[in-house]
Amino acid sequence: MTDWRSLPKVELHLHLEGAAPPALIRTLAAEKGIALPGVFDAKGHYLWHDFSSFLACYEAACQVLSSPEDYARLTAAVLAAARADGVIYTEVFVSPDLCGGGDPVAWREYLAAIAGAADLPGIEMRVIATAIRHFGPERALRAAELTADAAGHFVTGFGMGGEERFGHAADYADAFEIARAAGLSLTSHAGEFGGPASVAETLDALGVARIGHGVRAIEDPALVADLAARGTVLEVNPGSNIALGLYPDWPQHPVRALRDAGVTVTLSTDDPPYFHTDLPSEYAALSAAFGWTVEDFRALNVAAARAAFCDEATRSAVLQQLLDAGAAP
Ligand code: ADE
Ligand code: ZN
Repeated sequence: MTDWRSLPKVELHLHLEGAAPPALIRTLAAEKGIALPGVFDAKGHYLWHDFSSFLACYEAACQVLSSPEDYARLTAAVLAAARADGVIYTEVFVSPDLCGGGDPVAWREYLAAIAGAADLPGIEMRVIATAIRHFGPERALRAAELTADAAGHFVTGFGMGGEERFGHAADYADAFEIARAAGLSLTSHAGEFGGPASVAETLDALGVARIGHGVRAIEDPALVADLAARGTVLEVNPGSNIALGLYPDWPQHPVRALRDAGVTVTLSTDDPPYFHTDLPSEYAALSAAFGWTVEDFRALNVAAARAAFCDEATRSAVLQQLLDAGAAP
């Protein structure tokens, strides 16, 4: 049996708050005397039943993450788990809306705490600061300004998550323009609960290099050809899509069809404890569904490293580690 854990991995789509171990959220809630009704089931797992209750559960759990120190503990826990899963490079979504509520001084303190906790051997991390779409365009603008202010070696990207069916991508064009002008790399969720038109609109209006999910592009063959021709990178999260009911099972997930059509796909976990997944389990399930081998996953990780929002020295070092692991007997 393949040891998927030991394969070096690059992950481009991981929500920091969405990766919070339930035990950490419970510990913080107990320390702060905050009750979290409806957040956990009887087994202590996050409790949700569809996308909107998932978002509500996520936002409720985030109440206890209310200081830079909390985010340092969160980052340390998330990176320890990622490193144990073989992740050598990860990009995490962090929302300025959740880190200091839009206050620039607080946002800097949160980022400093996250960066301090991320300074670990064996794993490299970058932050994609992320607007939350259903909080509206005004708050997205504020998030973009805060991100532009922090842009640099550690905060390298700007993105948008949340309810994709809220408003139009074009409503957020100004926010993405601010981020672009600050030299940030860009990604946005689309083509998860919105169809192929949402992907096309996001590409046109926001000019992103990568799309979070993007899988529903498969419903429009012309769009699939366009994604392949443009070299747009999809941050695909198959286990998340299956858990949220987009596809009934692994064999019916479109990641293979997208890859076979020449689209650059990468593999991530989105919000692993919410979806009862981790990257080694994703690889095992995809291997079982599609016959993908260690070499397929190595190629997918090389593609992810090439698409990473990082400086060239870091990219070369990550690519070298992927190659070295491939050269091993
Ligand atoms: N935020 C966290 N996970 C998300 C997802 N799968 N889609 C949109 N926004 C999210
Ligand atoms: Zn996501």
